[in-house]
Amino acid sequence: MSPYAHITGWGMAVPEKVLTNDELAEMVDTTDQWIRERTGIRERRIASPDQSSATLATEAALQALEVANLKPSELDLIIVSTSSPEHIFPSTACLVQDRLGAAKAGAFDLLAACTGFIYAISTASQAIRSGSVKNVLVIGAETLSRFTNWQDRNTCILFGDGAGAFVLQASETPGGVLSAVLRSDGSGADLLTLPAGGSRLPASHDTVDKGQHFIHMNGREVFRFATRVMSQTTRETVEAAQLTLDDVDLIIPHQANQRIIESAARSLDIPLERFVINVERYGNTSTASIPIATCEAIQQGRLNPGDRVVFVGFGAGLTWGAALIEWSAPFLPEKAIYPFTYRLWVRVRSYLRRLIRHIEGLIWGSKYPDI
Ligand code: COA
Repeated sequence: MSPYAHITGWGMAVPEKVLTNDELAEMVDTTDQWIRERTGIRERRIASPDQSSATLATEAALQALEVANLKPSELDLIIVSTSSPEHIFPSTACLVQDRLGAAKAGAFDLLAACTGFIYAISTASQAIRSGSVKNVLVIGAETLSRFTNWQDRNTCILFGDGAGAFVLQASETPGGVLSAVLRSDGSGADLLTLPAGGSRLPASHDTVDKGQHFIHMNGREVFRFATRVMSQTTRETVEAAQLTLDDVDLIIPHQANQRIIESAARSLDIPLERFVINVERYGNTSTASIPIATCEAIQQGRLNPGDRVVFVGFGAGLTWGAALIEWSAPFLPEKAIYPFTYRLWVRVRSYLRRLIRHIEGLIWGSKYPDI
């Protein structure tokens, strides 16, 4: 029998710096009232210069491992979902692997924009159900503030930085990820895009002068698309698990806009109280929004073992999707990892590995760039 994929650990990390609507109103022609009425957002977090997608991802991951009582060395796979990676390559996942000292883990980035965390959960769950891996770390991490045009009021009011992480583990006990539905429509690729910096339009003075290294968005079209797919994909994932909406205790939607969530609640005929909403405090943290909202729901006692929860999201691509989860408790109750000592040890480990490479380089005459 295929093992089941349970979520046994969770963690989140957001920057300390808060950017309020009033502060934004000093930068672009907007008001706190306009932003609140059209989006529900009051403030968002912005990464400091020493924070990045990998540092936030690592913080969230260490918390998730601590909840799961799992050592990083026991991980088989690390998936980092991000649209704001540290580099085009190497993957942010490899940088996180090094910072965690996850010596046995494969690591790769996954890009499905704001739907990425759902794609990553589905991929991790399928890998576990196939029997090829047992312990998977899934992280959603973003520093979209680095790709935001702070003079474009259409986009700069929306996004924020942060990361969230889950540990998924194999078990013979039924439960965990019950179903997932993933969808895409590339004909809408131009509706939400970061035009330059890839192979189609490599970075140049011209692309920078034209602001093509920033997020570009057709807000109205994205809004229309989002309201259409949120309810539809929630229904599809519930049906795929042969359940009904009445069997669902909680819905954790992608936190893009309060009005989009309200519209989904109306079309599903589910009261807003069964939705987790924290967009007012973090804005749209893209692929990190669902795990951050999940961590807060757990802290508030709104999500408990045995509950059925739907994650549903949409984003650039276009992509959208949903996953239905029967919530689990951590498998191992006793404390097995100590983040402080671990952080120290992994730095030594990473340093030693670089040192060995450096010595080999001196012997063989090659150079390695610092990352
Ligand atoms: N402050 C004040 N006015 C603004 C503004 C801002 N920050 N941004 C736009 N406006 C103006 C527009 O210029 C427009 O003025 P006009 O009527 O004189 O042309 C007016 O407000 C209405 O613009 P519109 O784009 O129709 O507003 P909206 O109600 O659709 O809200 C968004 C704009 C971006 C908030 C909304 O479309 C949205 O949330 N879309 C989805 C975006 C999203 O979720 N993206 C991420 C997907 S993962």
